[in-house]
Amino acid sequence: MLEALLMLKKSLFRTILCHGGFMMHCTRKITDQLYYVGQSDRRLALFENVYRLDDGMAYNSYLLLDDKTVLFDCVDHAVERQFLENVEYVLGGRKLDYLVVHHMEPDHSETIAALLEEYPNVTLVGTSKAHALLKQFFEFKKEPAFTEVKENDTLDTGHHKLTFVMAPMVHWPEVMVTYDATSHILFSADAFGTFGALSGNIFADEFEYEHRMLDEARRYYINIVGKYGMQVQMLLKKASVLDISMICPLHGPIWRENLAYIIDKYNTWSSYASELDSVLIVYGSIYGNTENAAQVLSTKLAERGVKNMGLYDVSKTDIATLVSEAFKYKTIVFASSSLNAGLFLNMENLLLDLKAHFFQNRNVALIQNGSWAPSALKCMTEILGSMKNIKLIEHKVDIRSSLKESQLSDLDQLADSLAATVK
Ligand code: FEO
Repeated sequence: MLEALLMLKKSLFRTILCHGGFMMHCTRKITDQLYYVGQSDRRLALFENVYRLDDGMAYNSYLLLDDKTVLFDCVDHAVERQFLENVEYVLGGRKLDYLVVHHMEPDHSETIAALLEEYPNVTLVGTSKAHALLKQFFEFKKEPAFTEVKENDTLDTGHHKLTFVMAPMVHWPEVMVTYDATSHILFSADAFGTFGALSGNIFADEFEYEHRMLDEARRYYINIVGKYGMQVQMLLKKASVLDISMICPLHGPIWRENLAYIIDKYNTWSSYASELDSVLIVYGSIYGNTENAAQVLSTKLAERGVKNMGLYDVSKTDIATLVSEAFKYKTIVFASSSLNAGLFLNMENLLLDLKAHFFQNRNVALIQNGSWAPSALKCMTEILGSMKNIKLIEHKVDIRSSLKESQLSDLDQLADSLAATVK
């Protein structure tokens, strides 16, 4: 009785809020029966409290209105109010039958508890690992109904037939994706996502994607999922036999045109192949002398016809961007000062982060600087030596405090070797 009264009070409270103009729905129709009910957070500065966001983050959620109603994933707590309002509006008084949980990371699952308060009779659908994680993240007074599914299990919702496809480690072990065979839509979880908020435009073809979003999509993929290239390749293989006309990811825009473009990018990124046949130079410089060597080298490379080079200060540009850039280029030069009988700390952090993301299959050249006990070369060689298929270029440049006129020929030789690695 008390519970019923509390529910009534809650329901009235929400009605008053909605009718009082507290927060209006903000949704878009994707197909006749599918709606976008997610929202973007523009206030967040660091995704996962690590990755810099310049333009917020989108948390996507989709609601299917078939004979049964199905919500695909929840959202981050930051956009909970808008999300609940969107779901209520699109349901239009209907009950919510299913919540498909593709991924239990809190940016998608944190609002499950709030959703269950509104729709306590919804049945959750996910993997057994997702079920276990649900119990780890939440302590429910009454356990929600949960249907555990395995590879190729299906859910018939009336006119739509949903097939669940396992995608472990894209990006957590419990991850699965869903293929709607009726509308040929793939709900792809974190895969094909990007950093950045959405702007009302929710389709990739509504943006100048390559200009506005590709760098952020790469930075998102490499840093969030990049370690799991093999698992992404397995998912791409499974997806290749499906007739897909639309991809609905959990972050960033929906793909309904030119799907081959983003699938090809994912194939490149997950196979650890480079995208750009050019040279990236990253330097760690304390007083500007290592920086000078890097800049002289970049000029010599340009004189040899190398285009589209990247030149970055490891202390100025955040590590996540540098990791993403290193994955993009075919050939990379690391130029670093020595410090405390070791390696300049920011350069060490970058190399260790690259190692953590299984960085591989690249040409690499090294420049070290040291005033009395140069140690950068040894440290960089050790870390790079623990990575797979890193081809070290022989001509190393060894600077003592500052670059000298007599060392320009060393840089010329290095520039020749580097230029020979790219077209
Ligand atoms: Fe968007 Fe791995 O969560």
